Amino acid sequence: MFYPDELIEEVRVRTDIVSVISQYVKLTKKGSGYMACCPFHNEKTPSFHVSPSRQYYHCFGCGVGGNVFTFMMQYDNCTFPEAVKILADRAGITLPEREATQEEKERASLRQTLLAVNKEAATYFYFQLRSPQGARAAEYFRKRGLSEETVRKFGLGYSQNYRDDLYRYLKKKGFNDEAIARSGLAKITEKGIQELFWNRAMFPIMDAGGHVIAFGGRVMGEGEPKYLNSPETMLFDKSRSLFGLHLARRSRRPYFILCEGYMDVISMHQAGFDCALASLGTSLTEGHVAILRRFTKEIILSYDSDGAGKKAAMRAIPLLQNAGLTVRVLNLKPYKDPDEFLTHEGAEFFEARIREAENAFLFQSDVIRDGFDLGDPEQKTRFHREIARMLLAFPDELERTNYLEAVSRRHGIPEQALVSMVRSLSLLLPQNETERSRSVRTSRQREEYESGYSGYTEETETDVPEESGRRTVRSSGLAEDERLVLGWAVSENGHPEKLVEYLEPADFSDETCRMMAGALFPAWKEGRRPEPASLINACAEDPAASAGISDVLDRKLPEDLSAEDAGRILSESVRRIRKEGLKRRLTDPEHAREIIAIQNELGKIDKKT
Ligand code: UTP
Ligand code: MN
Repeated sequence: MFYPDELIEEVRVRTDIVSVISQYVKLTKKGSGYMACCPFHNEKTPSFHVSPSRQYYHCFGCGVGGNVFTFMMQYDNCTFPEAVKILADRAGITLPEREATQEEKERASLRQTLLAVNKEAATYFYFQLRSPQGARAAEYFRKRGLSEETVRKFGLGYSQNYRDDLYRYLKKKGFNDEAIARSGLAKITEKGIQELFWNRAMFPIMDAGGHVIAFGGRVMGEGEPKYLNSPETMLFDKSRSLFGLHLARRSRRPYFILCEGYMDVISMHQAGFDCALASLGTSLTEGHVAILRRFTKEIILSYDSDGAGKKAAMRAIPLLQNAGLTVRVLNLKPYKDPDEFLTHEGAEFFEARIREAENAFLFQSDVIRDGFDLGDPEQKTRFHREIARMLLAFPDELERTNYLEAVSRRHGIPEQALVSMVRSLSLLLPQNETERSRSVRTSRQREEYESGYSGYTEETETDVPEESGRRTVRSSGLAEDERLVLGWAVSENGHPEKLVEYLEPADFSDETCRMMAGALFPAWKEGRRPEPASLINACAEDPAASAGISDVLDRKLPEDLSAEDAGRILSESVRRIRKEGLKRRLTDPEHAREIIAIQNELGKIDKKT
């Protein structure tokens, strides 16, 4: 850990999670807590709640959860130390300047060196473009319609037709072989120097701050590969780099236009669409999406209109939507890509296409329709069924109805027929079963929260007939018991001192519970009651663990349960947890010497039940 634990905890205690989260998300008071539409997944009905008294958040829909640090990390895409720093500043707490480790210092200085190498290389390519040898590249850019200003703005350049001219230039600037090799710009072997880029039009790739981190080089004319990119380096992670981001982030437009290639981005900017960017030579990844989400709420997809572009868009849409971004899709027809469109039609028509850009769902339905021969009644039915299946994905009734109307109109599907198809599918399709039961559960929990009553209800899983997958059914029921018991112990009315009398941390089979018990039991034995949200500090970098803890914090016994019933449920659960824990020990060689004692205790538990 970078900062002392006590200081981290002080920052947490002096920061109110509600006021932090409400800076980013619109919270509505509900009962003793706050609800909102989850900022981490796409939804229309709130399932994200924040507890002011216990300082955690949790989403019933997607399961995210944690304390104020993990919220900052997840929302702002920053590291734990960064989140601590941001919140310490906010709370007026001064953190000690931490001494970097030797390794960190080396990494930092290599990073600085590589940035300097790339910067010098960009300067070199830039000047080559203006040299007599670069005339052909300059002509190439001109032919593609780029103005001198655009060439300057993007720092475009030219790499010469020699195998080591850049290398010699960089050496003259004082960089050593190691730095040059690590930049990926040249390979240095016994046979000599082999530069990556030869006789190519050069496109510097920059990070969000505008520092050159890599290059793309295009052959002028035909040739393979058309574009060559720097290899991944300490600076360049393809799955997180977006060409044009440093400019697009300053755009005043409320959306980003996501394109496929370098030339698309550049011609868009030249035409005044300063919010254009592209992922580079790879399809869109979750890493890209995490970055996009920091800067915008809406993406207009402007991929090529060919088959490959459509396929890429079909992949990108759910990825973007899952991160809560609104997605619309541009129709570029009859042109292949934005670059071509702008060359032929100009900016005004492009602006109109942006206004007309349709919601992603309708685009998806078009692509799916194209996969069927609608002249064939059987295929037509399959197409309708596919649309019905897609409609099922909308958890919100009203939203689903709206899309159903729009999509029936578009493809001439009788609306009533589609309604009943959706209904029967939702009941029949086995692959929807899990999703459906999850959403049923989710809405039930949500109702309980909204009515100010958050009850623990025994999940149906335990009612499944014994034959069908007994083990998994059992174990998930056990984990539920464990979460309930711990959730009760850490709640306001809980009695953790009773729990430590009967259980040990090793009795818990559920990893989160075992970790929580391991951290809490020693304090409980001394009569202390640490705030559970503080446990999340130690596992803030593990989203599953912090979500697990917040899930446990949500578990409570129904408030209208009689004391007697509550006591019975709890003691039965405790007994079961202990029993299963002991049974696991029976087969664990580490406990071989205690077998007799374990069997004795098991016998006693069995007599009680
Ligand atoms: P395109 O072939 O659509 O590129 O590939 P483009 O930008 O329209 O190219 P121009 O207009 O012919 O110059 C889209 C993107 O895929 C990557 C590049 O990032 C390119 O911009 N790509 C393409 C490669 O990395 N290597 C290739 O060989 C081709
Ligand atoms: Mn193109």
